[in-house]
Amino acid sequence: MIIQVFLRSKKMKIGVVGTGYVGLVSGTCFSEFGFDVVCMDKNPRRIEDLNQGIIPIYEPGLDSLVLDNHKKNRLHFSTDIKDAVVERDIVMIAVGTPTSDNDGAADLTYVFEAAKDIAKHLTPYTVVVTKSTVPLGTSHKIKEIIEKERPDLKAGIDFDVASNPEFLREGSAISDFMRPDRVVIGVDNERSEKILRQLYRPLYLIETPIVVTDIKTSELSKYASNGFLAVKIGFINQMADICEQAGANVQDVAKAMGLDGRIGKKFLHAGPGYGGSCFPKDTLALAKTAKDLGTPSTIIESVITSNDHRKSAMADRIITHCPNAKKIAILGITFKPNTDDLRDAPSLVIVPKLLQHGVDVHIYDPLYYKGCERTLPFQDSKVSFYQNAYDAIHGCDGVAILTEWNEFRSLDLPKVQELLKQKFFFDFRNIYKPDEMGEFYYYSIGRSFSKSHNI
Ligand code: NAD
Ligand code: UGA
Repeated sequence: MIIQVFLRSKKMKIGVVGTGYVGLVSGTCFSEFGFDVVCMDKNPRRIEDLNQGIIPIYEPGLDSLVLDNHKKNRLHFSTDIKDAVVERDIVMIAVGTPTSDNDGAADLTYVFEAAKDIAKHLTPYTVVVTKSTVPLGTSHKIKEIIEKERPDLKAGIDFDVASNPEFLREGSAISDFMRPDRVVIGVDNERSEKILRQLYRPLYLIETPIVVTDIKTSELSKYASNGFLAVKIGFINQMADICEQAGANVQDVAKAMGLDGRIGKKFLHAGPGYGGSCFPKDTLALAKTAKDLGTPSTIIESVITSNDHRKSAMADRIITHCPNAKKIAILGITFKPNTDDLRDAPSLVIVPKLLQHGVDVHIYDPLYYKGCERTLPFQDSKVSFYQNAYDAIHGCDGVAILTEWNEFRSLDLPKVQELLKQKFFFDFRNIYKPDEMGEFYYYSIGRSFSKSHNI
């Protein structure tokens, strides 16, 4: 498809406001596509680091892409909003939208602050794009903020606001961004649509579907996607509970279900409950939006409750099955592998609950270990961090795997047995096969235990 768009110069110029997981990954990938990108953040330390080649987040493959594009002068970092706005064809808002303190709604303070800052320096014509996950109607409010701040500018003539939610996952963010299942664009006129289509033109080559909608539909489609994935996980976790009671196997149930093309096999891994910076906050925000609109989403409300309960039920399982435990080793504390993100991780519920029950906790995580440069969580004298899994396990009554990092998939099991005082093994990610765990009191998720101990 040939698209003719009026740009300021031949090379599209993009500004990204907010250089966190989404802003940095998106900005870097757009620069890899050949565009000129400025990533701006109000955190000076972050920008200073990036300008010195230090990548502030752990994301596989990101460092080399950042360094390469920075060197090629296509990717720039700044704390000055002007650099990300003046003479840019597109300015993306990629700041955080955390849960607000009181009612579960998305806190839009950072988004509106960014919109105001952008407005001050906007030079016609620019498309302001919400890449952050924002509730229905937010892009419209951004338009109003810009018009209020800059009465000299007219929406539809000097600028437009569009929605372009991001669907990347942490840990596989680069490939998710470069080879997405789809791109969603929410616009209210042809001009902004053309510019956004031009932005994603490199993806036409790999035939990425581009879904173009009105702005509200685009905003909602992001919450609907995250909400549905959360429901899928919540559903399989409840099936796991049923399997445990009935002596069935949840992995086989998931396989049998997933082979049905209408269901699909992804996101049917039972575990200790979903965490991360998005599903928990986005389900809360979606429930709040639905309630405000007078159409409560009881499905989403229910998955929120069941997921909260599940995380604490995992701690209860350890305490119930290993009642005399004095020390438990925890392997993996991030909410998923290949990320250093701890936001809403199951470990943040499980570890404090073990401590409340008087259990000492020994932790090893490939990114959070004794002597690492990251700030360690759980500042408590009964929590100790170790440099490897075996040191953490040594002298403990049991071990619990909370995150399926690759290095936990091939533990030296005879050594683990030898190091544990009581041989309790809680495999909350079903990494191991029950019939190879015969010497342990092995507890996994939603599976019957043929040879190992059914505890
Ligand atoms: P983050 O917390 O990692 O990064 C946000 C950044 O914005 C921070 O560095 C902060 O300093 C900066 N910031 C805040 N206000 C600013 C302002 N006024 N000007 C300039 N910089 C400002 O957040 P994130 O995880 O990248 O998430 C951003 C948005 O993207 C959220 O809405 C989130 O729901 C959505 N999202 C996140 C992911 C993910 O995997 N993390 C995936 C898809 C969508
Ligand atoms: C999720 C979505 O997958 C992305 O599409 C979306 O862009 C992102 O949220 C967002 O909006 O920020 P992310 O949170 O990075 O991405 O990670 P996921 O791989 O989705 O995992 C989320 C949680 O669900 C993790 O705790 C993971 O362990 C859990 N999970 C996932 C399961 O328990 N079972 C599964 O089958 C899949």
